[in-house]
Amino acid sequence: MELTFGGPSKMNILLTGGTGYIGSHTAVVLAEQKHNVILYDNLSNSDENVVDKVQLITGKPITFIRGDIRDRDAVLSCLKTFEIDAVIHFAGLKAVGESTESPLKYFENNVSGSINLFSCMHKTGIKNLIFSSSAAVYGEPESSEIFETNTLCPLSPYGTTKLQIENILSDLSTSDPTWQIICLRYFNPVGAHTSGIIGESSPALPNNLMPFILNVASKNIDELVVHGNTYNTKDGTGIRDYIHIMDLSNGHVKALDHLKNKPQFDVFNLGTGRGYSVLELISHFELHNKVSIPFRVGPPRAGDVASCIASPAKAIKTLNWKPVRTLRDMCVDSWQYKYRQLSILKKNSSS
Ligand code: NAD
Ligand code: UD1
Repeated sequence: MELTFGGPSKMNILLTGGTGYIGSHTAVVLAEQKHNVILYDNLSNSDENVVDKVQLITGKPITFIRGDIRDRDAVLSCLKTFEIDAVIHFAGLKAVGESTESPLKYFENNVSGSINLFSCMHKTGIKNLIFSSSAAVYGEPESSEIFETNTLCPLSPYGTTKLQIENILSDLSTSDPTWQIICLRYFNPVGAHTSGIIGESSPALPNNLMPFILNVASKNIDELVVHGNTYNTKDGTGIRDYIHIMDLSNGHVKALDHLKNKPQFDVFNLGTGRGYSVLELISHFELHNKVSIPFRVGPPRAGDVASCIASPAKAIKTLNWKPVRTLRDMCVDSWQYKYRQLSILKKNSSS
């Protein structure tokens, strides 16, 4: 299909992994732009109730298909039934530590699953694709700001799956220039929709910093362990480029829009270009939410880098995208979502 994104016509957009954290927020933005959003997810790391929540926020009907990207018949049927124009491929496993313990699970789910999806898209002639990649493809940064042209050397099987999928897509586009493919390398997404209705709610135990802070703030965990304070950074703790989930979601809309320029294959960092240390994130969270985050310093975490900051210049210039939300927004919106979840739980348990 000739894309007319931004124009009057609606598109049918398939979001694999659509009930997950990033998929659900992107679904809100797309539905608000009047596109037909079809969420396809096996619910291995999300809950079906997200569909109702996206409908509640947007007031738009949202189609949900429970299915696995490795299921050829189910994927083909979904692509044909809903006359899909473009796919945003979020589905995947994302726990770095787990990927080191169970690499085959990650290659099977992420890489084999993606090959199946792309093969089904090829068969049905649907060749517009946005792929969720990660800063994990870079490994140890070779410059203070990370550019798309930096060396790609993942430090974990998870990161390797992302790089392998990017490579498959690059080869696919070389073999068939009618594909339009954009890989988005996310830095550290945090925050939630301002309604507090959706947010990051993975059933798995958190390993990432913001989910951990939220668990300490809500007293599910006594204290945060800061993974090392002897890095070569301003306060010795790790520095990351945190990006608000709604800015990240808007990046997908801009990337879809850019497909009409026929990029064939391109890669963009989605980050803010600004880094904050672990201690800075803790102190901003405490300040803006008026809660206390007890912490102690532990040893460095295996596989961690001192600093990881995007250069978002290419996305800003080419996609006409700009992250606008501050660290305060990220802290406040994250806590608002968590606090709302806790209140609902409390209400349900007392009734
Ligand atoms: P998430 O776990 O919340 O969402 C992923 C969704 O994919 C889940 O709902 C899960 O049930 C689904 N899924 C997994 N395997 C599937 C399969 N075989 N078939 C169908 N559905 C399947 O994760 P997220 O944070 O929303 O991440 C979305 C994508 O972005 C992932 O590919 C992830 O690797 C990538 N990414 C995330 C981050 C981050 O910090 N959240 C950073 C960089 C890249
Ligand atoms: C991790 C992954 C990365 C993935 C990203 C998003 C590793 C080594 N890297 O990145 O591949 O793309 O998540 O899913 O797991 N921290 C603490 N205490 C905690 C948790 C984290 O001090 O309890 C620190 C970390 O050492 C780091 C910073 O907080 O300095 C951010 O950590 P995290 O949120 O896990 O993200 P990344 O390490 O950037």
